Amino acid sequence: MRFRIYRYDPETGAPPWLQEFHIDADEHPVMLLEALLLIKARDESLAFRASCREGVCGSDALNVNGRNRLACITPLSDLSDPIEIRPLPGLPVIRDLVVDMTPFYRQYRTIRPWLINDDPEPEIERFQSPENRATLNGLYECILCGACSTACPSFWWNPERFLGPAALLQAHRFLADTRDQRTGERLDALEDPYRLYRCHTIMNCAEVCPKGLNPSRSIAVIRQMLAKRRI
Ligand code: SF4
Ligand code: FES
Repeated sequence: MRFRIYRYDPETGAPPWLQEFHIDADEHPVMLLEALLLIKARDESLAFRASCREGVCGSDALNVNGRNRLACITPLSDLSDPIEIRPLPGLPVIRDLVVDMTPFYRQYRTIRPWLINDDPEPEIERFQSPENRATLNGLYECILCGACSTACPSFWWNPERFLGPAALLQAHRFLADTRDQRTGERLDALEDPYRLYRCHTIMNCAEVCPKGLNPSRSIAVIRQMLAKRRI
């Protein structure tokens, strides 16, 4: 298997370049992350993020053969040779495959990703009926890997003003939560030509999400909520 890996160290002042590596079949990596770890054993200067190795922490999202994926749950057998690995698009590169996620998290924070409920705190927990809890399915599973927002041209062009698919999916998650008491305020904050309406339904987000989520659908639901309250 041949690999072409994006290398860049801003401290050297040298331009980015693609470094070639080769892994023999008898080394038997199964997932892309295993291959990256084998490569790092040969060249420890290669920088990338990874932690859980099972699609839970969201730290190893990369652009592989032109598509954003999580390295740990991407079987090498799904990839055509040579395998070209680049950092997530649209974010500043810190080094090699490591990007600065600050613009992504900044937008995530703006949607106030926590439950707001002014009722006195219950002794055990704020209960929900199974039906109400079910409305959160497809929303709460997001692992904040950033694959969707960094596959979105609207986010590349307006990372400061468009919230991006991941933050909007989370906005929907709290709008849908029957225990939250800030629906009106949350919708007010989203009613903006950039924050929400900069989505042009390109659908890259749903295409690349490694958890099978559909931020594009969430954006449509928020638009409907805003339209309904205008009537
Ligand atoms: S919606 Fe999917 S792709 Fe986007 S951050 Fe969450 S898990 Fe990653
Ligand atoms: S290493 Fe945690 S999601 Fe891949």
